[in-house]
Amino acid sequence: MKLGYGRMLQDGLDGRHGLPRARLAQLAGRFGAVQQEVRHRRAAGEYAFYDLVDQGPTVQQISTFAEGLGQAHDHVLVLGIGGSALGTKALLNALRRPAWNEWDDEGREFYPRLTVLENVDPSTVSAALARIDPRRVLVNVISKSGGTAETMAQYLVVRAWLEEALGDAAFRHLVFTTDPVRGALRELATREGVVTLDVPPELGGRFSVLSPVGLLPAALVGIDIGALLAGARRAIERAAADELLRNPAALYAALHWAADTDLGARIHVLMPYTDRLREFAEWYRQLWAESLGKRVDREGRTVHVGPTPVAAVGATDQHSQVQLFMEGPFDKVITFVRLERFGEDIPIPARGSPGSGPELPPDLAYLPGHSLGQLLDAEYEATSAALAEMGRMSCTLHLPELSAETIGEAMMFYQLATGYAGAWYGIDPFDQPGVELGKRLTYAAMGRPGYESKPRAGGSVDEV
Ligand code: PA5
Repeated sequence: MKLGYGRMLQDGLDGRHGLPRARLAQLAGRFGAVQQEVRHRRAAGEYAFYDLVDQGPTVQQISTFAEGLGQAHDHVLVLGIGGSALGTKALLNALRRPAWNEWDDEGREFYPRLTVLENVDPSTVSAALARIDPRRVLVNVISKSGGTAETMAQYLVVRAWLEEALGDAAFRHLVFTTDPVRGALRELATREGVVTLDVPPELGGRFSVLSPVGLLPAALVGIDIGALLAGARRAIERAAADELLRNPAALYAALHWAADTDLGARIHVLMPYTDRLREFAEWYRQLWAESLGKRVDREGRTVHVGPTPVAAVGATDQHSQVQLFMEGPFDKVITFVRLERFGEDIPIPARGSPGSGPELPPDLAYLPGHSLGQLLDAEYEATSAALAEMGRMSCTLHLPELSAETIGEAMMFYQLATGYAGAWYGIDPFDQPGVELGKRLTYAAMGRPGYESKPRAGGSVDEV
């Protein structure tokens, strides 16, 4: 994987917008302190995701487990939300055939279908349960804390559905992924003898895709989890560099932080030029938003910082958001993800079949002779160049292809970049105190003992 960053700099744009090259040198000069801070905090137990590349026994355990279970079930139903769901969706989207669940057994190479039930919208839940055969399903309940309201409510509904169909055998269709000691899910597992995988205690949800949280569902659908971690290891190795210009994740973080704080470019768009990274962009959105949007800094000072991540897909969003990126406020950085090779490509034919059908109108004659992949790539090149001409900052992640290794590397790259960005912003990227108040008010509304029933502010709502 390569990071192209020339179009973040003034001399790679129109000469007026973007970061001055001298700023890059300043950032490089300050990077030593950032790297030191990350190392220091890592030694103190933060940045636990670095250690995920050393999970030999876990990978072995998951692979063996998945081999046995995957064959006995033709549907995997994941219950989880946020960091316990988005990574799995990204892996499935990137590394399995598009529209995976619509293929027959042969089309899925006899691996199970996979549904991730993130929300508690009753219409989605009832449609999923109507579609899935409880006798052939494996339900993976994933919650680091083991107490998230949405996931636990899903679990109770699904558990009743399983019991109704299977009676006492229901628990054989369950696997939990949770904290090794704490939480209600762990308590249930112990009490009911449900097979359970551990999430490392120090690991936050949005940094957990390369832990059993994402690895088990991935292995169940036939993704090579050893290769995922091998790719992740490559990203970690590159992040050992103390020179900013040799450390892509650190450079990405530094440039985005400087674009935000120097130039007000606080909207950070991720725009892969492939449908198969659509969910990856959603995963990134949570990682960047929940990690970097903070009220206080490490010293406890009120700062209210945080870039706003936006997910987009090329070329689709050229017909949706790109007008805004091109001509709207200078408040964005776009990151393109470009595939050097598509796994399969389709030539654009001149006619239905050789010698048949009418001639094409002259306006379309430029298309045949190229492939869909070439068209998509040309659109990436053109959009990136046009944005540069308009003085709009962008960078590009060049992936040689979509494979478990490149996706593992890209995911670890983003986790590293998020960790570095936390250091540049001076905030803790691993907590999420801002979601706590909403949780408490939900508990109150649901009548959970010990929670107050009224918000302190915003009680009266104007409506029309
Ligand atoms: O990143 C996070 O910590 C959150 O998004 C969590 O993943 C999410 O709230 C779900 O939490 P849990 O896995 O504890 O159910």
